Amino acid sequence: MSIRPVRKAVFPVAGLGTRLLPATKSTPKEMLTIVDKPLIQYAVEEARAAGIEQMIFVTGRGKGALEDHFDVGFELEATMRGRGKSLHALEAARTGFGEIVSVRQQQALGLGHAVWCARHIIGNEPFAVLLPDDLMAGTPGALKQMVEAYNDLGGNIVCAEEVAAERTASYGIITPGEIDGNRTQVLGLIEKPAPAAAPSRLGVIGRYILQPEIMAILDATEPGSGGEIQLTDAMAKLIGTQPFHAVTVDAVRHDCGDKLGFVLANLALALDDPEIGTRVAEAARHLLPLR
Ligand code: G1P
Repeated sequence: MSIRPVRKAVFPVAGLGTRLLPATKSTPKEMLTIVDKPLIQYAVEEARAAGIEQMIFVTGRGKGALEDHFDVGFELEATMRGRGKSLHALEAARTGFGEIVSVRQQQALGLGHAVWCARHIIGNEPFAVLLPDDLMAGTPGALKQMVEAYNDLGGNIVCAEEVAAERTASYGIITPGEIDGNRTQVLGLIEKPAPAAAPSRLGVIGRYILQPEIMAILDATEPGSGGEIQLTDAMAKLIGTQPFHAVTVDAVRHDCGDKLGFVLANLALALDDPEIGTRVAEAARHLLPLR
């Protein structure tokens, strides 16, 4: 079987971000900032570093800021240049984020439905899916590590992590097969099982490499957990017809989809920031004994 390169990535970004209200009332949650960059930029940069050429945003009403963010800010740059200001912070936009394409998800019918909305842009190619809520801090990036595994294994790859036993109902959970280093054969997948029904504690986190055949399966997938069309249910149907593996990557995941995770991600990345890290640590040390 020849392994086709992964050139396209889908970013499901139509969600309402209700767990982060009121911040997300009129600002897309993917535009919320971790230190000095919006969440979506971390995901796009990770995809770019993994060799992705086309970024497909599955978007919805009120999400226009996401597309604007990836334009070159012509007026902004001209004004800053005129004032002799450094353009360093805008450099990533000039070196290129790849091609940005967007498609609408007109109804909030779930992650599987969001991915299915990109079917005409994906066509007949393998593709990645990145959920920007999961900020993956690591070098090389999480998706690049997955692409390396994909180049050996082909088929479908999900990113996986051991989750706390009482948290299985928040994740897609894997029935593991043979294990080879950081790669585990996937024998089954179930969306958000209660701890007692979970086949393992190996949870799927927000990075996937999928074969295009998933689209036809999604087409026929009925609503599952939470009344939504689940990507997990469609992936489960691919198992046995194509290679399917989970990869645990060498990266730290920050779940930025709720208040606690979002604040902790800011703290962790601020502490690692070369410009402000030392002062953030000092300030934190000063604040903590006061609690
Ligand atoms: C989604 C998926 C779930 C996966 C999780 C990773 O759930 O449905 O299988 O484990 O992302 O973050 P959500 O967090 O959108 O409820």
